[in-house]
Amino acid sequence: MSAELRAEELRPREVATLLEALPYIRDFHGRTIVIKYGGAAMTDPGLREEFARDVVLLKYVGMNPVVVHGGGPDITRYMERLGMKVEFVEGLRVSDEETVEVAKMVLVGKQNKDIVLRISRHGQAAVGLCGDDGALFRVRKAIVGDRDLGFVGEIEHVDVGVLNHVAADYIPVIASVGADGEGFSYNVNADTAAGAVAEALGAHKVVFLTDVEGWLSDPPDAATLISETSAEELDIALGRVSGGMRPKLEACRHAVRSGVSSAHVVDGRVAHSLLLELFTDEGIGTKVCP
Ligand SMILES: Nc1ncnc2c1ncn2[C@@H]1O[C@H](COP(=O)(O)OP(=O)(O)O)[C@@H](O)[C@H]1O
Ligand SMILES: [Mg+2]
Repeated sequence: MSAELRAEELRPREVATLLEALPYIRDFHGRTIVIKYGGAAMTDPGLREEFARDVVLLKYVGMNPVVVHGGGPDITRYMERLGMKVEFVEGLRVSDEETVEVAKMVLVGKQNKDIVLRISRHGQAAVGLCGDDGALFRVRKAIVGDRDLGFVGEIEHVDVGVLNHVAADYIPVIASVGADGEGFSYNVNADTAAGAVAEALGAHKVVFLTDVEGWLSDPPDAATLISETSAEELDIALGRVSGGMRPKLEACRHAVRSGVSSAHVVDGRVAHSLLLELFTDEGIGTKVCP
């Protein structure tokens, strides 16, 4: 049976969807897409299977997906199980040596391998890395306000050597921890890490999956989605953005100023939001342009 005949059996809407995706598939061929993975897409059992399938599909159609993830609520849960004190300052986890040890165990030992296994089960072998592997991240202590947050780090340098090797054959999955020159490990915000990886790889796009529709106009406005913005607009607005959206938008702004063609914050609670962003004309969520 010819492809045309089979296409006729599809309903018009399905044909339209496929046709709409084709130019994007052609444009994105061979290009790197960095995906910050988190929120419901990482915790909901159904959504995480869909996410793994979507990432495998991107690899099948010739793109080069790279996944960067944080730890979030799981780290807190394990810390509480161990009777440890959990404290956040401006969205950042106060991290003494034991906290980083637990964070690293959960991030690298559990979450990273869970994601790797799930992607591999859906048909494309993945390889898990953290900042230590192949000297991927060199980290330094982050200075945040006037309070010492302990081992909270920021990325000083990304060495893409190991990533390029891995990405040639596998889907890299990166846990956002890393060490400084003296071998001390640090927690690193996964949004910042994803932005730094996108920049270092010269990625085409970076997509942040989260638990809101995107960047919402701040109160007292009715919270409406800002579907497109620019680095300059963020220069003005970022001061007013709080919580976890701030590092995301900062990472978006930094990425587009470093050569990434666009950065996106999309709703990971919606199944296939990644595909909808990449392969449809309207896109979804907030798009940040240079
Ligand atoms: N203007 C805003 N628009 C959208 N979300 C915002 C805004 N200001 C603060 N936030 C908060 O940022 C959160 C997203 O960041 P975070 O909780 O760190 O999620 P993730 O796990 O994806 O990093 C949202 O759930 C929301 O509570
Ligand atoms: Mg966050």
